[in-house]
This record gives sequence, C-alpha cells and structure tokens, in this order.
Amino acid sequence: MVNVLIIGHGAREHVLGETLVKGGAKLYSFMSFKNAGLEDLSEKIKIHSETDFKEIIDFCKENIIDFAVIGPEAPLVVGIVDALEKGGISCVGPKIEAAQLEGSKVFTRNLLEKYNIKSNVKSKVFNSINGIENYIKDIGVKNLVVKPEGLTGGKGVKVFGDHLFSKEDLLEYCLELINNNNRFLLEEKCIGEEFTLQTFVDGKNVIGSPLVQDHKRAYEDDKGPNTGGMGSYSMEDHLMPFITQEDVLEALEDMKKTIAAVKAETGVEYKGFLYGQFMKTAGGLKLIEFNSRFGDPEAMNVLPLLKGNLVDICWAIIEGNLTQNIEFENKATVCKYLAPEGYPVNPKRDEQVIVNQEKIKNSGARYYYASVYREEGKIFTTSSRAMGVLGIADSLEEAERIAETGVQCIDGKLFHRKDVGTRKLLQKRINHMNSLLNK
Ligand code: AMP
Ligand code: GLY
Repeated sequence: MVNVLIIGHGAREHVLGETLVKGGAKLYSFMSFKNAGLEDLSEKIKIHSETDFKEIIDFCKENIIDFAVIGPEAPLVVGIVDALEKGGISCVGPKIEAAQLEGSKVFTRNLLEKYNIKSNVKSKVFNSINGIENYIKDIGVKNLVVKPEGLTGGKGVKVFGDHLFSKEDLLEYCLELINNNNRFLLEEKCIGEEFTLQTFVDGKNVIGSPLVQDHKRAYEDDKGPNTGGMGSYSMEDHLMPFITQEDVLEALEDMKKTIAAVKAETGVEYKGFLYGQFMKTAGGLKLIEFNSRFGDPEAMNVLPLLKGNLVDICWAIIEGNLTQNIEFENKATVCKYLAPEGYPVNPKRDEQVIVNQEKIKNSGARYYYASVYREEGKIFTTSSRAMGVLGIADSLEEAERIAETGVQCIDGKLFHRKDVGTRKLLQKRINHMNSLLNK
C-alpha cells in the first residue's frame, strides 16, 4: 500500500484524490478548508494552512507518507516542494524556482524570449508610468493586455476590448497596479481560440493529456466578469475541432523547450504537472500562460479518463523516468460548475446545497466538491465555485446531456452556464477560428 498525501481543498484535489485512490493509494489530505469529498476518500485529514510546511512535514512523518501531491499553486510558488524534500518527503510538483513559470509572468516571458520559444508574444515589464505611453504608441492601445506579474486567481488580467475600452481605462488600471506596488506586463493581445494542454513532467519528458477548453466568463455566451472557470469540455478524439494534431505537437514541443530552458536557467528540473494555455491565432500558436499544476475545472475532464495508474505515474515523475506513454479513454467530457448566485461579484454564502445522491447516481453524472463546507451532514456555499458536475460519454452531446441532468439533481441558490459543452457554442468557436483563418 502506498500512503499518498494530497495538499489542497478544491474540486481539482477531489478528483486527484479519487484518481490516486483508484490507483491503489491510501489517501491522506492536508487542507486549509475541509473538502467533503476528500474527507470521505481519506484515511485521515488535517485542516490547517497549506503553507505551514513544518505542520505538513510532521503530518507526513506521523502517517508514514510515501509521497505528496500538491494540487494548488499557492504553496508551490512559496516553496512547498523544496521544504518537504528537505524534510525527506518526495513530492509531485515543481520546486520554487521552476514554479516561477506560474508565479511570475515576467520570468516566463523573459525565459521564452531568451530561449527563442516560438509561441511567445511581445511584452514589456513596467513598475512605473515611465515608458508606458511610448509602448502604447508602438503596439497600439487596442492590441494590448495588462497582466499583473503574480498570482491573481485568473482575475487580474485585463484585455483591451473585453475589460478595457479606452486608453484612459488602460492607464487607470496600470496606475492602480503601480499604486499597489505591483509589477505588470503590457502584452500583445492575441485573437483566436484558447485550449488547455495539461501534461505530466519528470524533469525532461513532457507527456500530454486530452485537450480541454475552459470558459472563464461568468455568464452564458461568454458574457460577464472573469471567473476561475465556469466549466470545460474535451472531445472523444482528445483534440478540439479547431485544433489539429500538428498544433498539439507544436504546443508540446514548446513545453519541452520551456522545461529545458528552466533547467538551463535555474539549474532546477521541472517535475510535476504543467498546464499550458495556448491560443491558436491567424499568426500561429501563442502561449497565453503556464500553470504549475492541473487546472480547475480542467483536471476533472482528463483524470477520470486516465487508463493508467496515477500512483505509478507519480512515482515515474519523482524518479525521472516517465518514458511510458500515458493513455486516456476515447470519451468526450463536459464539466459544469455550479456557483453561488452572485458569484464572482457578490456571491450568496452559507446557503444550503442539496445533492440528491440517488438521482445524480442514476443520471450517470459525477460530482466533485469545490468551495462548500459540510456541517452536520449538510452542504453550504462559501464565496467561490461550489460543485463541479461531470458527464462522460462517447460524444460531446451525450456528455453535455449527462452533465446537465446531473446539475438538475443539485438544489440551492446556485447558477451554472447551460451553454458549456453545447454544439451551438462549439460551432461558434469553429466559425470564429474559420473566420480568422479565412476558411
Ligand atoms: P491568465 O490569467 O493569464 O490565464 O489570463 C486570463 C485570460 O486572459 C486568458 O484565459 C485569456 O483569455 C486572456 N488573455 C491573457 N493573455 C492574453 C493575451 N496575450 N491575449 C489575449 N488574451 C489574453
Ligand atoms: N481553469 C483555469 C485554471 O485552473 O487556472
């Protein structure tokens, strides 16, 4: 029996935990907030800060943990892996230097530029107003995106035309960041369709999983404020109708070059999961961002399709011998997030969520707990996304239908995007891509 510790408390960690248990792990969970799904799957849990490394090491020693899997970015970017390894605990996740791929957008853009990685885009770092006017003149205000350097939970990036509508808007946001002592990038705006490529990395080898497309905007038809992601889908052929196998190989190639560049630049090997967000544009593939972990919701789209054993994959990552191919079932998936009414601006918290377990089981949908808490057997909302509902089937239509039926088995002051995974929205994406490529 392998004793595995999972760190984190969201739906991503719930599905990671489920997949580890399926692979034969005895699960232990360390989380800042109690996830009911992980509680049910675990031998033992501890509720405590996910960045208190000493407590985590003590918990590992007490429970003879073989290795730890780190779910979220927050502990990674402050060095959890360095600390745990120093304490004698093997980890699946990058060390602090390598986790900069997510922790510092400036580090990433500079690295990609220095090592001539093709999918990079033009960008420049600022920490004062000096030079901004000139840069706007050079690139054109309509072609710019403002990106704070560090972690913002997906909510800090502002894109001209989506969130900023004039030069004044853009300057105002830059000034806000300057006043808060934040460094930020002004970056070339890309136009196209995004996809997520999540990979397993052992320091050298980078192995992909089915492509996923997330939906950042809160409301249907891609309207409303940005969120952590309202839902996501993947196709039975593991591609997207607007993304070819060649595109995937190109993205993987750039991820491999990035891993090699991290080693060359910092001396540290990247190990763990690496999430690449790319956009296909008329000018080719562009790297939007890297995350040093699985995506949330995107982890729910790929991990349940894994044919191999995640525990074995984790050992191969740790030992640096991830040479076997990793296979996934040829199924489509649709994940819909249920969020509290008012999310992300003014979410209704402490509202009861009632899951009709029998009905949802019969619907064939799976569900994962996100930011909800359980008290005396009852589930309540917090201020963030509540539950992920997943449909898996031979076709997207069927997966979407299962997810939607699953959603109907959960009651509460919640909302979700009905359009995630629908043919109509997919066709809109295809038409958009075709119009950009003049097809
Ligand atoms: P990030 O936090 O980097 O994932 O950015 C959030 C969202 O902003 C992305 O999912 C994109 O939709 C958008 N975005 C980020 N960078 C760019 C860019 N250079 N061009 C166009 N959109 C972008
Ligand atoms: N779904 C986007 C993320 O996990 O960052």
